[in-house]
Amino acid sequence: MEVKTSLLDNMIGVGDMVLLEPLSEDSFLENLRKRFDHNEIYTYIGSVVISMNPYRSLPIYTPEKVEEYRNRNFYELSPHIYALADEAYRSLRDQDKDQCILITGESGAGKTEASKLVMSYVAAVCGKGQEVNKVKEQLLQSNPVLEAFGNAKTVRNDNSSRFGKYMDIEFDFKGDPLGGVISNYLLEKSRVVKQPRGERNFHVFYQLLSGASDDMLKKLKLNRDFSKYNYLSLDSAVVNGLDDAASFRTVKNAMQIVGFMEDEVQSVLELVAAVLKLGNIEFKPESRCNGADESRVKDKNDLKEMCELLGIEQTVLERAFSYRTVEAKSEKVSTTLNVAQAYYARDALAKNLYSRLFSWLVTRINESIKAQTKTRHKVMGVLDIYGFEIFEDNSFEQFIINYCNEKLQQIFIELTLREEQEEYVREGIEWTNIEYFNNAIICDLIENNQNGIMAMLDEECLRPGTVTDETFLDKLNTICAEHQHFESRLSKNSKFLNDHSLPHSCFRIQHYAGKVLYCVEGFVDKNNDLLYRDLSQAMFKANHSLMKQLFPDGNPAKVNLKRPPTAGFQFKASVGTLMKNLQTKNPNYIRCIKPNDKKAAHIFTESLVCHQVRYLGLMENVRVRRAGYAFRQVYGPCLERYKMLCKRTWPHWRGPAREGVEVLMADLQVPTEEFSYGRSKIFIRNPRTLFFLEERRRQCLQDLATLIQKIYRGWKCRTHFLLLKKSQIVVAAWYRRYTQQKKYQKIKSATTVVQSYTRGWQARKLLRELKHQKRCEEAATTIAAYWHGAQARRELRRLKEEARRKHAVAVIWACWQGLKVRREYRKFFRANAGKKIYNFTIQRIMQKYFLGLRKTLPSMSPIDKSWPARPYRFLDAAHTELRTIFHLWRCKKYRSQFTEEKKAVYEEKLEASELFKDKKSLYPSSVSQPFKGDYLEISKNPKYHKLNSCVEEKVLLADVVNKINRANGKGASRILLLTKKNVLLADQKTGQVKASVALPDLASVSVSTQNDGFFALKLREGSASAVKGDFLLSSEHLIETITKLHHIGSTASDDGVRLNIDITDEFLVQFKQDKVCVKFIQGAPKNGNGASCKRKNNRLLEVSVPATA
Ligand SMILES: Nc1ncnc2c1ncn2[C@@H]1O[C@H](COP(=O)(O)OP(=O)(O)OP(=O)(O)O)[C@@H](O)[C@H]1O
Ligand SMILES: [Mg+2]
Repeated sequence: MEVKTSLLDNMIGVGDMVLLEPLSEDSFLENLRKRFDHNEIYTYIGSVVISMNPYRSLPIYTPEKVEEYRNRNFYELSPHIYALADEAYRSLRDQDKDQCILITGESGAGKTEASKLVMSYVAAVCGKGQEVNKVKEQLLQSNPVLEAFGNAKTVRNDNSSRFGKYMDIEFDFKGDPLGGVISNYLLEKSRVVKQPRGERNFHVFYQLLSGASDDMLKKLKLNRDFSKYNYLSLDSAVVNGLDDAASFRTVKNAMQIVGFMEDEVQSVLELVAAVLKLGNIEFKPESRCNGADESRVKDKNDLKEMCELLGIEQTVLERAFSYRTVEAKSEKVSTTLNVAQAYYARDALAKNLYSRLFSWLVTRINESIKAQTKTRHKVMGVLDIYGFEIFEDNSFEQFIINYCNEKLQQIFIELTLREEQEEYVREGIEWTNIEYFNNAIICDLIENNQNGIMAMLDEECLRPGTVTDETFLDKLNTICAEHQHFESRLSKNSKFLNDHSLPHSCFRIQHYAGKVLYCVEGFVDKNNDLLYRDLSQAMFKANHSLMKQLFPDGNPAKVNLKRPPTAGFQFKASVGTLMKNLQTKNPNYIRCIKPNDKKAAHIFTESLVCHQVRYLGLMENVRVRRAGYAFRQVYGPCLERYKMLCKRTWPHWRGPAREGVEVLMADLQVPTEEFSYGRSKIFIRNPRTLFFLEERRRQCLQDLATLIQKIYRGWKCRTHFLLLKKSQIVVAAWYRRYTQQKKYQKIKSATTVVQSYTRGWQARKLLRELKHQKRCEEAATTIAAYWHGAQARRELRRLKEEARRKHAVAVIWACWQGLKVRREYRKFFRANAGKKIYNFTIQRIMQKYFLGLRKTLPSMSPIDKSWPARPYRFLDAAHTELRTIFHLWRCKKYRSQFTEEKKAVYEEKLEASELFKDKKSLYPSSVSQPFKGDYLEISKNPKYHKLNSCVEEKVLLADVVNKINRANGKGASRILLLTKKNVLLADQKTGQVKASVALPDLASVSVSTQNDGFFALKLREGSASAVKGDFLLSSEHLIETITKLHHIGSTASDDGVRLNIDITDEFLVQFKQDKVCVKFIQGAPKNGNGASCKRKNNRLLEVSVPATA
């Protein structure tokens, strides 16, 4: 069930100032304070919302709150900005009325925040879908971009909007957003070049320097250090709670969402960088010949970098800072600029550049967010414009800002009154004239086309001749002297002649919100907003497309000699358009109030709030609103709210609501002059009457609450009792069931026990019987088995007895037969049987032995040493003999296979064995080497052809030997040739025969017992060969050589004397005349077997033979 609530529920103070009783400034302020202290920052004046800046985030903007206020009537819930946004959105969507939301208040009062809250609420409640969401996102994201370029930190607000903004959001017939259009008003461009103490330049400069990457800064030729730039004030460059770097990322992201291209963003940042660079350009005077000073750029580095950034020719810009060309009709006159003028020109360029960039941004955003369809759309305008400003020093900017506020106040009064009047007419209630202050007279003072202040300023600016701020003031003094809202010391109005609060250079205007003193200094300049044409032409020449776009007036092809419209004129025109626009729409007001100057939460400075209440004209607002009737309510909700106050309407009224309300009022005896019946609403004149109704309702609600409580308690007790009763029956039923179940279980288990006992007894009985029967059967089988067994054993015994008897008979018979035979043959047996048996046995054994031996004979290899074991000892000698015979036989067999040559070789081997076996250690190693004889292949080798031809006989041995030199024991290679008759020694290289010894001349050969190849050929004394002495040689084939020598020597000898071989470790060798002793000693083991010969002395050669390892 939907709960009907009202603004009047749980009110802190009064939620609507119209209900204030008594109405006075004090009670107004007190109500605001009370609500502010209880975090109620919103209060109504009828349909106007007063918003107090809480300076802290309150939990009242959650999605749940959005849902709470969605589709609810304005007065149904406690005051909230969402209620106003919802009301505006619903009348736009459902009643097809274009809306505008006018947000006013002084700087820092929360206008921008309020506009964002309205936009976010509308975005949350309107339609959804991919396209719609994109539009919403673009509309919302336009805010951070504009705030970066148009907001700055001021002493009043850390995020102060330095421009006015009006945004039309366009919706289709369903209430889905289609797009929007933004208009901007008067950017405070003077801030670009100079900021008041404690304030900053526009956020974007700081954001760029803090947030851009090093790479980007390098591209833009910028330095991260703020102090490097003259245009950035240093005293408050860093603002608490503002993260410039993070904001830069947000802004870039927002630009991307809104639809800026990469190169557009880059161009924008280049212009921002150019402004910073421009600020660093400084000038110095340079005297000219005519005595005048001319300005020159001091340090050209910044100028150069700026020109590079924007693609401007440096000389062109440099010239534009030094000269000014004035064109009149067809004449061109060039004048020099002094330093002050150059600085003025520089600053004017910076201001113009920045403000044109800002306007371009707005246009560019509009391009992106404009509605795509051409169908008629409904429009909701949100105006976030600077509030009324009264500073100590008020200049041109404050003047036009306050003018704008005058216009807004005018439209506010007009529209509020019109709305009020329309409602009275609609409801058929008589209209009573309301007294209020109409500020049209002040607007006229400022904007009148003939004698208004702005018209006179323009006139003064366009007038030829010397024009100064003072001439302008003089003009005002003459023309506006009589105006009742204009005050000036020098006017003809003698009233102010002695007013010392009014300086001579100032004039004062009595605005609807209070008196403001304006100092005329700078009015003319600011209104002119002059930028030398040379500069705009220089900018147009830039090779930078955005820059070119910003300065179309610099195009020489379109030179316009007409002066551009003044700033005041432009502003007045745009305010005029805005007012016209607003008048066609249904207005909704949000009046923002700043509770303190410290930007702090919980502080309520009464004087400050009072000042704002006054100049916002809030009291006036309340008075207008309650001039006729303070409160009005539709009959339905009114009857619903108060029907309990009358028995006839409580609890239900069956007739029309209006009649119900009439019955109710009559019953309550409310005086008839206190209210009027409209067509759909009741109008209550005094808040007192409403509070009387509310009080009665409160009391009645208490009684009703008691009654409801009473009935509820009775109902509750009754239901409880019935529940108990019902429970008791259920419990009893369950208990009975439970006891019966238990009893049944008991009987069931007892029956089971009895049954089981009986069954057990029967089973046991049966078992016994079965067992007995089984035992009887088994006993019979056993008895039968035993009986059969006994029978079988008896039979067996009988058979055994019978067999034994038969055997005994056979034995006895055999014995008897044997006895008989023995007795008969005894005489033969004794004489021959023993010998015969013996021979037979021996024969058998021998036979067996030989047959066995045949099978186990070893192999035919002569070196196989195996031989079967002897079987009987008595065969020992025969067995050994047989082994020898077998071995000889198989050797013979083996030998019979040899050829003659092989036989000769073996014979030689045999001879070698006879000569050296067990006598010389070298011998065993020679056994396995075949005796090759001709190692040099002398007959085949052409190298030895000559040598071969010298030898007549067949060469039996040809080998290389070493002939040992007696002098040092060293060897010289010789070829040793052995024929049947001679031993020849020839030179190895030449093949020339060095010595030839006839074998008969050879007396003996000496060799050592050791493992060496040394041998001495000793010659027979007196023989022809002995002249040169013996030969001491060494050969690798010693055994073969000596054996062959021995064999041939023996056969060659005529007398059959064998060649003598001496095997001894010390022998004498006859070298020519001397005998030298050759001694063999055993040396240490060595790698390789080479024995070494050393001459020890004249008579001793020592041969060291390495021991075999
Ligand atoms: N409803 C709010 N809830 C919380 N804080 C708020 C609210 N409204 C304003 N503020 C705080 O007050 C500051 C100033 O608000 P805002 O910028 O909206 O002022 P303004 O009226 O637009 O001022 P200016 O005229 O200088 O632009 C905000 O930055 C924010 O901190
Ligand atoms: Mg703002």
